[in-house]
Amino acid sequence: MKLVKRIANLGYGSRKEVARMFREGRVTDAAGEVLYADDTPSPGDVRIDGEPLDPPQGLVLMLHKPVGYTCSTRDPGRIVYDLLPPRFRLRSPLLSTVGRLDRDTSGLLLFTDDGVLLHRITAPKAKLAKRYDATLAQDLRGDEAALFASGTLQLESDDTPLAPARLEVADARHATLVLTEGRYHQVRRMFAALGNHVEALHRSQVGGLALGDLAPGQWRPLAEADLDALFAS
Ligand code: URA
Repeated sequence: MKLVKRIANLGYGSRKEVARMFREGRVTDAAGEVLYADDTPSPGDVRIDGEPLDPPQGLVLMLHKPVGYTCSTRDPGRIVYDLLPPRFRLRSPLLSTVGRLDRDTSGLLLFTDDGVLLHRITAPKAKLAKRYDATLAQDLRGDEAALFASGTLQLESDDTPLAPARLEVADARHATLVLTEGRYHQVRRMFAALGNHVEALHRSQVGGLALGDLAPGQWRPLAEADLDALFAS
């Protein structure tokens, strides 16, 4: 792929804008030598304004999504892409969220531009475990763990019962729910079906990958070891 297209695909600008960056001498190699549009350096050797190029296609990252941000590219309110470098929204192929979290849910949100990986994580048969910490409006009744684990609970407007899910109770108003599927508003609807209400919801882990000490609003690219952890649960 031509260097201009490669750089444009990373969201640095249209091909015309990137061509202008070459003319302005802003594209160099690692030693600071000006590059020309028909040069063929390895991507790792390219600098723009002295900075290394963003990661090429195959980017996977995790964000600690704060409450109040929507998993959308278009919503008029705050969106999760506002928390990433603006270029990332312009990449081709698109950097998309891996599934979604509700606007009022915080926690671990993955992004990738790798369609095969996205499918590997979200496909129902992958059954990747997702851990959600829920704060409830009312005290737990005591029968929730058994009902959630039964595999017989069917939510209103769903055609099939939920897969068994594990509930770990911390105290009367706090519990962690581990799901292996991802239905619409699933955690909130599960507690609502039993007459409770989720006041706060946080996803702490997907597969074997945990948020760790990533602060709300922060993101980081995933390394091979993170991907191994993701699928090693
Ligand atoms: N379940 C929900 O209800 N909301 C989320 O954001 C994720 C799972």
